[in-house]
Amino acid sequence: MTILVTGGAGHIGTTLIKALAAKGEHILAADIREKGTPPKGAEHCYNYRQIDIGDGDALDALIREIKPSCIYHLGALLTENSEKNYHESFRVNVEGTMKLLESVKRHGPIPVFFGSSRGTYGLGLGDSIDDLTLQRPLSFYGWGKLYCEGIGRWYWEHFGVDFRALRFPTVIAPGIRTPGHWAPSMMEDAITGRPHRSLYGSPDDCGVFLYIEDAARAAIELMAAPADQIKMRVYNVTGMNQMVRTKDLGDYLQQRFDGFSVEYAEQKSIKPNTPLIDDRFARDEWGWRPQFNSLELIVDRFKLDFVQPN
Ligand SMILES: NC(=O)c1ccc[n+]([C@@H]2O[C@H](COP(=O)([O-])OP(=O)(O)OC[C@H]3O[C@@H](n4cnc5c(N)ncnc54)[C@H](O)[C@@H]3O)[C@@H](O)[C@H]2O)c1
Repeated sequence: MTILVTGGAGHIGTTLIKALAAKGEHILAADIREKGTPPKGAEHCYNYRQIDIGDGDALDALIREIKPSCIYHLGALLTENSEKNYHESFRVNVEGTMKLLESVKRHGPIPVFFGSSRGTYGLGLGDSIDDLTLQRPLSFYGWGKLYCEGIGRWYWEHFGVDFRALRFPTVIAPGIRTPGHWAPSMMEDAITGRPHRSLYGSPDDCGVFLYIEDAARAAIELMAAPADQIKMRVYNVTGMNQMVRTKDLGDYLQQRFDGFSVEYAEQKSIKPNTPLIDDRFARDEWGWRPQFNSLELIVDRFKLDFVQPN
């Protein structure tokens, strides 16, 4: 049996495929990019298909053809791109997800994992957000993800589609250069002894981080959890349950790496504090525990990639 990973050429998709391959799974990575490269160790069990997930007919034909044992649906436009190209974001992120769920209803049973986002929260937040906090997003991307969370639940309730989802916070790993993500390049410069000039991070920008291997493992563990443990269906997860400002990370890296210098991006505005993420439902219902839950552990893990590149 084959596992289908949409967005399989992306950052989280590639890490997920590596982890699935290590479990002996066969994977079909599907992505709009022309070519996909198997991650190291997954060459023997990896196939690739170029597909536009906004094209419902192509997606339906693919699902009918391979009858996957599970779908990890990660293909999407991210925040900045969704703000700039909101019609395309609607076509891919929203319509693409609905078309996928419709195909699964037709050709299933096939469990579906959906990669949602902390961006589904926005207005009126307190110090912490949990799975019961009112979600009022500020971005087009966040509204799209929230709609998909909702229809995922709806397909579950009406047609029994086994839809499960995680709201990821900022997912970080070496090599990530997604617009707005200021932490990975800063960590890499500190580790490799280069001065850092931040493109996106003004001193008071904040993030709550999840290391990419934890993100992939969380998705796999959620999909492996027995059905009777899955009550909430869409869960917050986080790695570090601590809000990190750009300046906090810079200070930490300067303490740890002698001579490291940082130039921050211009301060755009003073932002309200980013709330902490309460992931107790994931912890209680299916046993979620992050492995990389401090800056120290995350930077240690980044360092490994420069000693033993993937
Ligand atoms: N990275 C994060 O911090 C973060 C946080 C919250 C949620 N997420 C979600 O996790 C998922 C994976 O994110 P990522 O960080 O790996 O991003 P990514 O940009 O690296 O991967 C997304 C992939 O989707 C593909 N894609 C875009 N349009 C497509 C289309 N029309 N058809 C098929 N494929 C298409 C892209 O080519 C890309 O490879 C996304 O759904 C994203 O919204 C990510």
